[in-house]
Amino acid sequence: MNTEQLEKEFQARIDAEEKIEPKDWMPDAYRKTLIRQISQHAHSEIVGMLPEGNWITRAPSLRSKVILLAKVQDEAGHGLYLYSAAETLGIDREQLLHDLHIGKAKYSSIFNYPTLTWADIGAVGWLVDGAAIANQVMLCRTSYGPYARAMVKICKEESFHQRQGYEIMMHMARGTEAQKRMAQDALNRWWWPSLMMFGPPDKESTNTEQSVKWRIKRQTNDELRQEFVDKTLPQAEYLGLKIPDKDLKWNEEKKGYDFGTPDWEEFYNVIKGNGPCNKQRLDARVKADKEGEWVREASMAYYEKKSAKKKVA
Ligand code: 3HC
Repeated sequence: MNTEQLEKEFQARIDAEEKIEPKDWMPDAYRKTLIRQISQHAHSEIVGMLPEGNWITRAPSLRSKVILLAKVQDEAGHGLYLYSAAETLGIDREQLLHDLHIGKAKYSSIFNYPTLTWADIGAVGWLVDGAAIANQVMLCRTSYGPYARAMVKICKEESFHQRQGYEIMMHMARGTEAQKRMAQDALNRWWWPSLMMFGPPDKESTNTEQSVKWRIKRQTNDELRQEFVDKTLPQAEYLGLKIPDKDLKWNEEKKGYDFGTPDWEEFYNVIKGNGPCNKQRLDARVKADKEGEWVREASMAYYEKKSAKKKVA
Protein backbone atom coordinates (compact mmCIF):
# COMPACT_ATOMS: atom_id res chain seq x y z
CA MET A 1 0.00 0.00 0.00
CA ASN A 2 1.25 3.55 -0.66
CA THR A 3 1.53 6.14 2.13
CA GLU A 4 -1.84 7.66 1.36
CA GLN A 5 -3.58 4.29 1.71
CA LEU A 6 -1.60 3.52 4.89
CA GLU A 7 -2.64 6.87 6.40
CA LYS A 8 -6.25 6.25 5.46
CA GLU A 9 -6.20 2.83 7.09
CA PHE A 10 -4.46 4.27 10.17
CA GLN A 11 -7.10 6.97 10.63
CA ALA A 12 -9.85 4.35 10.21
CA ARG A 13 -8.27 2.35 13.08
CA ILE A 14 -8.17 5.50 15.25
CA ASP A 15 -11.81 6.29 14.44
CA ALA A 16 -12.75 2.70 15.32
CA GLU A 17 -11.21 3.30 18.78
CA GLU A 18 -8.43 0.76 18.20
CA LYS A 19 -5.25 1.17 20.25
CA ILE A 20 -2.07 1.81 18.25
CA GLU A 21 0.78 -0.43 19.45
CA PRO A 22 4.57 0.05 19.07
CA LYS A 23 4.94 -2.40 16.18
CA ASP A 24 1.96 -0.97 14.20
CA TRP A 25 2.45 1.27 11.19
CA MET A 26 1.94 4.92 12.15
CA PRO A 27 2.49 8.26 10.36
CA ASP A 28 5.89 9.78 11.24
CA ALA A 29 4.08 12.89 12.46
CA TYR A 30 1.99 10.79 14.90
CA ARG A 31 5.18 9.17 16.24
CA LYS A 32 6.89 12.59 16.49
CA THR A 33 3.98 14.18 18.38
CA LEU A 34 3.87 11.29 20.84
CA ILE A 35 7.63 11.38 21.45
CA ARG A 36 7.33 15.13 22.08
CA GLN A 37 4.34 14.89 24.43
CA ILE A 38 5.32 11.73 26.35
CA SER A 39 8.91 12.88 26.86
CA GLN A 40 7.77 16.32 28.05
CA HIS A 41 5.35 14.58 30.37
CA ALA A 42 8.21 12.44 31.73
CA HIS A 43 10.46 15.51 32.13
CA SER A 44 7.62 17.22 34.03
CA GLU A 45 7.42 14.34 36.50
CA ILE A 46 11.18 14.37 37.16
CA VAL A 47 11.53 18.16 37.37
CA GLY A 48 8.31 18.25 39.43
CA MET A 49 10.19 16.39 42.20
CA LEU A 50 12.41 19.42 42.79
CA PRO A 51 9.99 22.03 44.21
CA GLU A 52 8.51 19.40 46.55
CA GLY A 53 11.83 17.75 47.40
CA ASN A 54 12.82 21.18 48.71
CA TRP A 55 10.47 20.65 51.69
CA ILE A 56 11.23 17.03 52.65
CA THR A 57 13.82 18.09 55.26
CA ARG A 58 11.53 20.87 56.51
CA ALA A 59 8.20 19.02 56.73
CA PRO A 60 6.42 20.03 59.98
CA SER A 61 5.92 16.48 61.27
CA LEU A 62 7.23 12.96 60.75
CA ARG A 63 3.85 11.99 59.25
CA SER A 64 3.92 14.84 56.71
CA LYS A 65 7.56 14.02 55.89
CA VAL A 66 6.74 10.36 55.19
CA ILE A 67 3.76 11.35 53.00
CA LEU A 68 5.84 13.87 51.04
CA LEU A 69 8.68 11.35 50.62
CA ALA A 70 6.23 8.81 49.20
CA LYS A 71 4.79 11.41 46.81
CA VAL A 72 8.18 12.52 45.48
CA GLN A 73 9.21 8.88 45.00
CA ASP A 74 5.96 8.27 43.09
CA GLU A 75 6.83 11.16 40.73
CA ALA A 76 10.20 9.56 40.00
CA GLY A 77 8.39 6.33 39.16
CA HIS A 78 5.96 8.18 36.88
CA GLY A 79 8.91 9.70 35.04
CA LEU A 80 10.59 6.31 34.52
CA TYR A 81 7.28 4.81 33.39
CA LEU A 82 6.83 7.57 30.81
CA TYR A 83 10.42 7.43 29.55
CA SER A 84 9.79 3.69 28.95
CA ALA A 85 6.57 4.51 27.08
CA ALA A 86 8.49 7.05 24.95
CA GLU A 87 11.22 4.46 24.21
CA THR A 88 8.61 2.15 22.62
CA LEU A 89 8.50 4.78 19.84
CA GLY A 90 12.14 4.16 18.98
CA ILE A 91 13.72 7.09 20.80
CA ASP A 92 16.70 6.73 23.16
CA ARG A 93 16.17 7.84 26.81
CA GLU A 94 19.66 9.33 26.88
CA GLN A 95 18.69 11.55 23.93
CA LEU A 96 15.52 12.71 25.72
CA LEU A 97 17.44 13.57 28.89
CA HIS A 98 20.15 15.33 26.85
CA ASP A 99 17.47 17.48 25.18
CA LEU A 100 16.11 18.37 28.62
CA HIS A 101 19.53 19.23 30.04
CA ILE A 102 20.44 21.56 27.16
CA GLY A 103 17.11 23.37 27.49
CA LYS A 104 15.76 22.08 24.17
CA ALA A 105 12.92 19.94 25.59
CA LYS A 106 10.00 21.43 27.51
CA TYR A 107 8.55 20.40 30.83
CA SER A 108 5.43 21.75 32.52
CA SER A 109 5.63 25.51 33.14
CA ILE A 110 4.21 25.04 36.64
CA PHE A 111 7.47 23.65 38.02
CA ASN A 112 9.29 26.91 37.37
CA TYR A 113 7.61 28.56 40.36
CA PRO A 114 9.13 28.49 43.87
CA THR A 115 7.63 26.66 46.86
CA LEU A 116 7.99 29.39 49.50
CA THR A 117 6.02 27.97 52.45
CA TRP A 118 4.65 24.62 53.65
CA ALA A 119 1.22 25.71 52.40
CA ASP A 120 2.73 25.66 48.89
CA ILE A 121 3.18 21.91 49.26
CA GLY A 122 -0.54 21.72 50.02
CA ALA A 123 -1.43 23.96 47.07
CA VAL A 124 0.83 21.95 44.73
CA GLY A 125 -0.78 18.66 45.74
CA TRP A 126 -4.32 20.10 45.60
CA LEU A 127 -4.05 22.24 42.44
CA VAL A 128 -1.08 20.97 40.40
CA ASP A 129 -1.78 17.29 40.95
CA GLY A 130 -5.48 18.07 40.64
CA ALA A 131 -4.87 19.64 37.22
CA ALA A 132 -2.55 16.78 36.26
CA ILE A 133 -5.32 14.30 37.17
CA ALA A 134 -7.86 16.10 34.94
CA ASN A 135 -5.42 15.81 32.06
CA GLN A 136 -4.20 12.29 32.84
CA VAL A 137 -7.67 10.75 33.30
CA MET A 138 -8.33 11.91 29.73
CA LEU A 139 -5.00 10.37 28.63
CA CYS A 140 -6.12 6.96 29.95
CA ARG A 141 -8.14 6.90 26.69
CA THR A 142 -5.37 8.17 24.40
CA SER A 143 -4.97 6.23 21.14
CA TYR A 144 -1.38 5.08 21.79
CA GLY A 145 -1.51 1.84 23.82
CA PRO A 146 1.62 2.11 26.03
CA TYR A 147 0.79 5.75 26.96
CA ALA A 148 -2.83 4.93 27.85
CA ARG A 149 -1.77 1.94 29.96
CA ALA A 150 0.93 3.97 31.77
CA MET A 151 -1.76 6.46 32.78
CA VAL A 152 -3.83 3.91 34.74
CA LYS A 153 -1.24 3.39 37.50
CA ILE A 154 -0.18 7.07 37.39
CA CYS A 155 -3.75 8.30 37.88
CA LYS A 156 -4.28 6.05 40.92
CA GLU A 157 -1.15 7.48 42.59
CA GLU A 158 -1.97 11.04 41.48
CA SER A 159 -5.29 10.81 43.39
CA PHE A 160 -3.35 10.14 46.60
CA HIS A 161 -1.13 13.16 45.76
CA GLN A 162 -4.14 15.42 45.32
CA ARG A 163 -5.75 14.23 48.58
CA GLN A 164 -2.61 14.71 50.66
CA GLY A 165 -2.30 18.25 49.30
CA TYR A 166 -5.92 19.04 50.06
CA GLU A 167 -5.48 17.63 53.60
CA ILE A 168 -2.56 20.05 54.19
CA MET A 169 -4.71 22.95 52.93
CA MET A 170 -7.61 21.85 55.14
CA HIS A 171 -5.33 21.65 58.18
CA MET A 172 -3.97 25.14 57.57
CA ALA A 173 -7.28 26.72 56.59
CA ARG A 174 -8.69 25.52 59.93
CA GLY A 175 -5.54 26.51 61.84
CA THR A 176 -4.27 29.75 63.33
CA GLU A 177 -4.80 33.11 61.60
CA ALA A 178 -1.19 32.91 60.39
CA GLN A 179 -1.78 29.47 58.89
CA LYS A 180 -4.98 30.63 57.17
CA ARG A 181 -3.09 33.59 55.66
CA MET A 182 -0.35 31.20 54.50
CA ALA A 183 -2.93 28.92 52.83
CA GLN A 184 -4.63 31.89 51.09
CA ASP A 185 -1.24 33.26 49.99
CA ALA A 186 -0.34 29.86 48.47
CA LEU A 187 -3.68 29.72 46.60
CA ASN A 188 -3.10 33.28 45.32
CA ARG A 189 0.31 32.34 43.94
CA TRP A 190 -0.52 28.86 42.49
CA TRP A 191 -4.00 29.40 41.03
CA TRP A 192 -3.18 31.05 37.70
CA PRO A 193 -0.02 28.98 36.93
CA SER A 194 -2.18 25.85 37.55
CA LEU A 195 -4.65 26.99 34.87
CA MET A 196 -1.72 27.47 32.48
CA MET A 197 -0.78 23.78 32.92
CA PHE A 198 -3.51 22.85 30.44
CA GLY A 199 -1.67 24.70 27.67
CA PRO A 200 -2.47 27.85 25.69
CA PRO A 201 -6.02 28.71 24.61
CA ASP A 202 -7.30 26.37 21.90
CA LYS A 203 -7.14 29.18 19.33
CA GLU A 204 -3.36 29.49 19.95
CA SER A 205 -2.63 25.78 20.41
CA THR A 206 -0.43 24.53 17.57
CA ASN A 207 -0.98 20.82 18.27
CA THR A 208 -4.51 20.38 19.61
CA GLU A 209 -6.46 20.07 16.37
CA GLN A 210 -4.31 17.24 14.98
CA SER A 211 -3.92 15.59 18.41
CA VAL A 212 -7.71 15.48 18.77
CA LYS A 213 -8.05 14.00 15.26
CA TRP A 214 -5.56 11.27 16.20
CA ARG A 215 -7.33 10.85 19.59
CA ILE A 216 -4.07 11.51 21.40
CA LYS A 217 -6.12 14.21 23.13
CA ARG A 218 -9.75 13.44 23.85
CA GLN A 219 -10.50 16.96 25.10
CA THR A 220 -9.03 20.32 24.20
CA ASN A 221 -6.94 22.55 26.50
CA ASP A 222 -9.86 24.91 27.17
CA GLU A 223 -12.31 22.06 27.85
CA LEU A 224 -10.00 20.52 30.46
CA ARG A 225 -9.30 23.94 32.01
CA GLN A 226 -13.02 24.57 32.35
CA GLU A 227 -13.53 21.13 33.96
CA PHE A 228 -10.75 21.88 36.46
CA VAL A 229 -12.20 25.30 37.45
CA ASP A 230 -15.69 23.85 37.90
CA LYS A 231 -14.37 21.02 40.09
CA THR A 232 -11.93 23.10 42.17
CA LEU A 233 -14.05 26.11 43.03
CA PRO A 234 -16.35 24.26 45.49
CA GLN A 235 -13.22 22.75 47.11
CA ALA A 236 -11.84 26.25 47.73
CA GLU A 237 -15.19 27.36 49.16
CA TYR A 238 -15.18 24.36 51.53
CA LEU A 239 -11.74 25.47 52.75
CA GLY A 240 -13.04 29.03 53.25
CA LEU A 241 -10.39 30.28 50.80
CA LYS A 242 -10.97 32.79 47.99
CA ILE A 243 -9.83 32.03 44.44
CA PRO A 244 -7.93 35.13 43.17
CA ASP A 245 -10.15 35.77 40.13
CA LYS A 246 -12.61 38.68 40.22
CA ASP A 247 -14.32 37.40 37.02
CA LEU A 248 -15.35 34.05 38.54
CA LYS A 249 -19.12 33.76 38.17
CA TRP A 250 -21.54 30.84 37.76
CA ASN A 251 -22.99 30.71 34.25
CA GLU A 252 -26.33 28.88 34.43
CA GLU A 253 -26.55 28.56 30.68
CA LYS A 254 -23.26 26.68 30.27
CA LYS A 255 -23.62 25.03 33.72
CA GLY A 256 -20.10 26.08 34.55
CA TYR A 257 -18.10 29.04 35.85
CA ASP A 258 -17.00 31.96 33.74
CA PHE A 259 -13.49 32.93 34.76
CA GLY A 260 -10.76 35.43 33.96
CA THR A 261 -7.96 35.05 31.41
CA PRO A 262 -4.58 33.72 32.53
CA ASP A 263 -1.59 35.98 31.76
CA TRP A 264 -0.51 34.25 28.56
CA GLU A 265 2.46 36.58 28.18
CA GLU A 266 3.74 35.24 31.51
CA PHE A 267 3.08 31.68 30.30
CA TYR A 268 5.07 32.08 27.07
CA ASN A 269 7.81 33.84 28.98
CA VAL A 270 8.09 30.96 31.45
CA ILE A 271 8.18 28.28 28.73
CA LYS A 272 10.82 30.34 26.92
CA GLY A 273 13.01 29.83 29.99
CA ASN A 274 12.42 33.11 31.84
CA GLY A 275 10.36 31.84 34.77
CA PRO A 276 11.37 32.39 38.43
CA CYS A 277 13.11 28.99 38.75
CA ASN A 278 13.92 27.73 35.23
CA LYS A 279 17.70 28.02 35.64
CA GLN A 280 17.63 26.51 39.15
CA ARG A 281 15.57 23.53 37.95
CA LEU A 282 17.81 22.75 34.97
CA ASP A 283 21.01 23.21 37.00
CA ALA A 284 19.64 20.75 39.60
CA ARG A 285 18.76 18.22 36.90
CA VAL A 286 22.17 18.47 35.21
CA LYS A 287 23.95 18.15 38.59
CA ALA A 288 21.86 15.09 39.56
CA ASP A 289 22.57 13.49 36.19
CA LYS A 290 26.32 14.07 36.58
CA GLU A 291 26.38 12.77 40.15
CA GLY A 292 24.41 9.69 39.14
CA GLU A 293 26.78 8.73 36.31
CA TRP A 294 28.84 6.32 38.47
CA VAL A 295 25.67 4.49 39.56
CA ARG A 296 24.59 3.97 35.94
CA GLU A 297 28.10 2.81 34.95
CA ALA A 298 28.34 0.41 37.92
CA SER A 299 24.93 -1.13 37.22
CA MET A 300 25.76 -1.48 33.50
CA ALA A 301 29.09 -3.16 34.36
CA TYR A 302 27.36 -5.54 36.76
CA TYR A 303 24.68 -6.32 34.16
CA GLU A 304 27.24 -6.98 31.39
CA LYS A 305 29.33 -9.23 33.69
CA LYS A 306 26.24 -11.19 34.73
CA SER A 307 24.99 -11.65 31.17
CA ALA A 308 28.50 -12.66 29.98
CA LYS A 309 28.55 -15.35 32.74
CA LYS A 310 25.13 -16.60 31.57
CA LYS A 311 26.44 -16.96 27.99
CA VAL A 312 29.43 -19.05 29.17
CA ALA A 313 27.31 -21.34 31.41
N1 3HC B 1 4.25 23.88 30.09
C1 3HC B 1 5.21 23.87 29.12
N2 3HC B 1 4.93 23.85 27.79
C2 3HC B 1 3.64 23.82 27.44
C3 3HC B 1 2.59 23.80 28.38
C4 3HC B 1 2.95 23.84 29.76
N3 3HC B 1 2.03 23.86 30.72
N4 3HC B 1 1.41 23.77 27.71
C5 3HC B 1 1.72 23.76 26.40
N5 3HC B 1 3.05 23.81 26.25
C6 3HC B 1 3.78 23.86 24.97
C7 3HC B 1 3.55 22.62 24.15
O1 3HC B 1 4.52 21.64 24.47
C8 3HC B 1 3.71 23.17 22.74
O2 3HC B 1 5.08 23.35 22.46
P1 3HC B 1 5.86 22.32 21.51
O3 3HC B 1 5.00 22.09 20.30
O4 3HC B 1 7.16 23.00 21.24
O5 3HC B 1 6.01 21.07 22.34
C9 3HC B 1 3.14 24.59 22.84
O6 3HC B 1 3.21 24.94 24.22
C10 3HC B 1 1.72 24.71 22.33
O7 3HC B 1 0.87 23.99 23.18
P2 3HC B 1 -0.17 22.90 22.63
O8 3HC B 1 -1.42 23.03 23.39
O9 3HC B 1 -0.23 22.98 21.15
O10 3HC B 1 0.63 21.58 23.03
P3 3HC B 1 0.04 20.14 23.36
O11 3HC B 1 -0.95 19.72 22.33
O12 3HC B 1 1.21 19.29 23.62
O13 3HC B 1 -0.79 20.35 24.74
C11 3HC B 1 -0.41 19.65 27.03
C12 3HC B 1 -0.11 20.70 25.94
C13 3HC B 1 -1.89 19.72 27.35
C14 3HC B 1 0.43 19.97 28.28
C15 3HC B 1 -0.05 18.27 26.47
O14 3HC B 1 1.29 18.30 26.05
C16 3HC B 1 -0.23 17.15 27.47
O15 3HC B 1 -1.34 16.72 27.73
N6 3HC B 1 0.90 16.65 28.00
C17 3HC B 1 0.84 15.47 28.85
C18 3HC B 1 0.51 15.84 30.28
C19 3HC B 1 1.61 16.68 30.90
O16 3HC B 1 2.67 16.83 30.38
N7 3HC B 1 1.32 17.24 32.04
C20 3HC B 1 2.32 18.08 32.68
C21 3HC B 1 2.21 17.98 34.11
S1 3HC B 1 2.71 16.42 34.73
C22 3HC B 1 2.57 16.71 36.34
O17 3HC B 1 2.06 17.70 36.73
C23 3HC B 1 3.13 15.72 37.28
C24 3HC B 1 2.30 15.60 38.49
O18 3HC B 1 2.70 14.44 39.15
C25 3HC B 1 2.50 16.75 39.42
